[in-house]
Amino acid sequence: MTLSSLKPRPLIAGNWKMNGLAQALDEARAVAGGVDARPAAARVAICPPATLLHRLSQALEGSSVLTGGQDCHVRTSGAHTGDIAAAMLVDAGAALVILGHSERREDHGETSALVAAKVEAALAAGLEPIICVGESLARREAGSALQVVTAQVRESLPAALAGQAFSIAYEPIWAIGTGRTATIADIEEMHASIRAQLISMFGESGKAPPILYGGSVKPDNAAEILRAAEVGGALVGGASLKAADFLAIIAAA
Ligand code: 13P
Repeated sequence: MTLSSLKPRPLIAGNWKMNGLAQALDEARAVAGGVDARPAAARVAICPPATLLHRLSQALEGSSVLTGGQDCHVRTSGAHTGDIAAAMLVDAGAALVILGHSERREDHGETSALVAAKVEAALAAGLEPIICVGESLARREAGSALQVVTAQVRESLPAALAGQAFSIAYEPIWAIGTGRTATIADIEEMHASIRAQLISMFGESGKAPPILYGGSVKPDNAAEILRAAEVGGALVGGASLKAADFLAIIAAA
């Protein structure tokens, strides 16, 4: 197998987080209309809140735009009030799931070991995981960003991922929703380090998974970020809520 045949298309995924009521479906329809009218170089996904997932998947049926969840439980069913099993996401139309986002690691105390168990649950249900990693500002300023993220990759990725379709999203916490982005040099350094870790864990197949960047990706910085070495797409928060902005980012890929 050649290296180029290992390279999947880039992925541009919108993470709506806890945003969006029924009228937000119109934004998603506008994104799908734009993507389908002018096929994108990248695969495109929208990950809405769970309450919208089924309706959004139905609204985008027939479109190339995929849908995804923002989390799943490690178990397939049972007494877990408020939680959502991976198979339920699939049932609601999802093809992907974001796991280990820093907001879940921080707000819900998710550890890398828990994230790894969630990845296994997602794979078992047939979902493609987007596994998030990223350091805090304190860790960046202490000079330990590479070390922290390497440990997160090592501990959040189960062996079951070998040969499976998945992506990593590097999202420095201090760049999320702040309007601050990492420098291109910082992004390239971190993505190279993540790639090396993937190869050390999975061998040749560790060259394949796209490594997305996330953290204040906007129409005016997307092209530069997406051109950077080892950047295989973007995980977009705020700018994915407006179809025009998200389409501009997709067009830059
Ligand atoms: P922003 O694009 O709003 O900074 O969010 C990034 C993010 O956390 C995506 O998962």
